[in-house]
Amino acid sequence: MTVQHTLNGSDTAAFGLPIGITLDRFIKRQQSQFPSAVGDLSQLLRDIALASKIVNREINRAGLSGLAGTAGSTNVQGEMQQKLDLAAHIRFVRAFNNGGEVAGIVSEEEEEIIYTEYPTGKYVVALDPLDGSSNFDTNVSVGTIFSVYRRVSPVGSQPTEADFLQGGRRQVAAGYVLYGPSTMLVFTTGNGVNGFTYDPSLGEFMLSHPLIQCPAEGRIYSCNEGYFSTYDESVRAYLNQCRDRGCSARYIGAFVADFHRNLLKGGIYLYPGTSTQPDGKIRLLYEAYPMAWLAEQANGQAISTSQPILDVRPDALHARTPVFAGSTQMVTELAGLVSNQNLSGQHRIAQVEL
Ligand code: AHG
Ligand code: MN
Ligand code: MN
Repeated sequence: MTVQHTLNGSDTAAFGLPIGITLDRFIKRQQSQFPSAVGDLSQLLRDIALASKIVNREINRAGLSGLAGTAGSTNVQGEMQQKLDLAAHIRFVRAFNNGGEVAGIVSEEEEEIIYTEYPTGKYVVALDPLDGSSNFDTNVSVGTIFSVYRRVSPVGSQPTEADFLQGGRRQVAAGYVLYGPSTMLVFTTGNGVNGFTYDPSLGEFMLSHPLIQCPAEGRIYSCNEGYFSTYDESVRAYLNQCRDRGCSARYIGAFVADFHRNLLKGGIYLYPGTSTQPDGKIRLLYEAYPMAWLAEQANGQAISTSQPILDVRPDALHARTPVFAGSTQMVTELAGLVSNQNLSGQHRIAQVEL
């Protein structure tokens, strides 16, 4: 006997709304638009999603499991490493090692290139395993940032610095995971920016923010105003304009969280050079490039002092750059002030007259 499954309107309501598109299905659909693609990049994105679920679990339990707190070591930048910095680094490296698509990794937490067990991998990844980790002990949002390149060195050999120093316009995938009140994966492969929210009960990232567009105008500015007196004249003038206009200051101190809010609501994130650190703090390969590409893909902008971040030539794996990213109109205004001040093209930092 055939069982008839017929649902009427009230039954459908009782079963709730459709749950939507999983990350996996989304990736498959994207891949099917490129018949020549063999699926390596898709698998790499799945590896990232898997590692981020594990990191998410560890973050959620860190206060109980002893993973909170400093590790007692410093990274290549001389910054104190948190235990979670190292845990996240290990999880992502292990995921790439098991995946087979990635031949080499540059991580904020290690000075040198990490070679995976797969020199046959076509891709290399630059990674900030845990961004904003100094927020971590107080249960404030943190993130992971990643940037993927197709390698230029021969597949089968060990990857080289040149694979990582191709420049931001050569990225083939980039994104971040935000571990906030909910966990989100936001990424681009060059066809717009899509955001997925993690449903812990299903263990799946679900498409929740398709084709994110950054509002062209914004009313939020995000920077560490404690360093105001060390910023150059044009940046100080811009911040004064923001204040005069009644913009809101919002600064979490985690690039991922500050960028994400401004991407959705409209605003500008600023990490300028300071008198002691002319290139600021944000790392080009695994913080600035991926966020700059996301900004541009969402109709926003991201500049260093005088040019789009994606056009900044990288000269070292852990190089830094000033960052001004977000709503097009805000970034353009700031760029105007910078170029007026700096017609000679020199990057000038105010020293002491403040
Ligand atoms: P990380 O934790 O990966 O070292 O990055 C921290 C960065 C960035 O997330 C944040 O915007 C910035 O540092 C905050 O720096 P300040 O404390 O100097 O404002
Ligand atoms: Mn970071
Ligand atoms: Mn970090």
